[in-house]
Amino acid sequence: MDRLLDSLFPTANEIPEAYRLGEPLVQREYLVNGQLQQWDGPLATVRSPVWLKEGNEERQVTLGNTPLLDADTALTALDAAVHAYDKGRGAWPTMRVAERIQHVETFLGKMREQREAVVKLLMWEIGKNLKDSEKEFDRTCDYIVDTIGALKELDRRSSRFELEQDTLGQIRRAPLGVALCMGPYNYPLNETFTTLIPALIMGNTVVFKPAKFGVLLIRPLLEAFRDSFPAGVINVIYGRGRETVSALMASGKIDVFAFIGTNKAASDLKKLHPRPHRLRAALGLDAKNPGIVLPEVDLDNAVNEAVTGALSFNGQRCTALKILFVHEDVVASFLDKFQRKLAALKPGMPWEPGVALTPLPEAGKIDYLNGLVADAVDKGAKVINEGGGASRGSFFYPALLYPVNAQMRVYHEEQFGPLVPVVPYRDLQTVIDYVLDSDFGQQLSIFGSNSAEVGMLVDTFANQVGRINLNAQCQRGPDTYPFNGRKNSAEGTLSVHDALRVFSIRTLVATRFQESNKQLISDIIRNRESSFLTTDYIF
Ligand code: G3H
Repeated sequence: MDRLLDSLFPTANEIPEAYRLGEPLVQREYLVNGQLQQWDGPLATVRSPVWLKEGNEERQVTLGNTPLLDADTALTALDAAVHAYDKGRGAWPTMRVAERIQHVETFLGKMREQREAVVKLLMWEIGKNLKDSEKEFDRTCDYIVDTIGALKELDRRSSRFELEQDTLGQIRRAPLGVALCMGPYNYPLNETFTTLIPALIMGNTVVFKPAKFGVLLIRPLLEAFRDSFPAGVINVIYGRGRETVSALMASGKIDVFAFIGTNKAASDLKKLHPRPHRLRAALGLDAKNPGIVLPEVDLDNAVNEAVTGALSFNGQRCTALKILFVHEDVVASFLDKFQRKLAALKPGMPWEPGVALTPLPEAGKIDYLNGLVADAVDKGAKVINEGGGASRGSFFYPALLYPVNAQMRVYHEEQFGPLVPVVPYRDLQTVIDYVLDSDFGQQLSIFGSNSAEVGMLVDTFANQVGRINLNAQCQRGPDTYPFNGRKNSAEGTLSVHDALRVFSIRTLVATRFQESNKQLISDIIRNRESSFLTTDYIF
């Protein structure tokens, strides 16, 4: 392990030319009211999870800077969004759907031009490997394409009139107002855009604040935002959430709060809003998804899924398997196979071919993970894989912890990192109680082949989590499926289709079905005197 760690971080010269960064990126721009503004105030330093060898030392790379806006400046972005929405009368919220779609298509075209720059920054800022960084970018573009398709479909269905009990009506979805969109550092592009794009395309105006890491990678998209949307429709701010976002929420002018992060931060921010009933929230929060391995099981499949489920992107996924309950009859074999699979995962820098384990972006994370391991070991667990828990700089080699029990912190806390706690069980009720009593309810995985047992567990857990995965790891995709959670894990449901609904409200124009009203509506449609009341069919 020492040898591996000694050769983990490269020298600057060892980085392939295509992935070098050059000069530090000093960003002073932020986007307000259709203009890239220059910030003259203090800047935040952006550090990479990547360290480089310099002589006998290893040093963390400094990538550049981003603006540390103050509350007043953040409020200018909010004012721009409020003005562009203009109480629902602005050009954007009243624009015909087909035209709004054209703006989003323009943005998508410009965004695609920035693929290389964004992918490179994903690797440098959050340590995501090249393959997954490319996947994040492409998946986001696909999400935008699918969102456009879903809106066209929705609009086609709304373009007709309905007649119920002598009442003629047309129902369309209308925007809600000003949306505040904030994403997480593990998917700083994809997860943020899964709220940002639906919010925009439904006619809301937006203030967007990038995640705590993965901030510079939004910079190449600022011009695309500026040039694709009318002024004030999308505003991008930077700075400490405590200062900027708190001021936005306390203003009472945010109508939709789209946030991916901890339930504590979400609750604190929601409480600041003076009119809670006027705030709609779309939240993706904490999770502690269990993987449950039954005694009758295809163990090779269970291990394969558990390894990727627990360790892809070093376990930094809200959907990661964060605790494994394995039946005593198969636990020895499970651990043996798991260790072998884990040992085959390649540690290295994000751009190295085939690399699976990479450095972590959060300062203090290694200490936190060491603390969880020490606590578990203190209470009787062992790190059973060779080199497990070894660390260097920002890198932490995954630790397979066994046997874990309810006294240990890792049994309860969301580690969000490369720690794999395994709990042996004989009585399935222990596992059921864990799920029932958990504060979280995002997803779980059941690995087994006994239909009676799996069927019983499906029924037991259907009212506990948002998704039950059979013989498969937990995951968000495909993005057309609902993604949500119960308890402290989420508020609202996102999917390509659902997100359009989250960021809009059904609005009905209704009239008594009589000659004069039929004539009136026909005239409005024929003369194109309304953008709302129309039978236009979007192709
Ligand atoms: O971090 C949470 C993400 O939504 C997980 O998405 O399951 O596709 O990795 P994923």
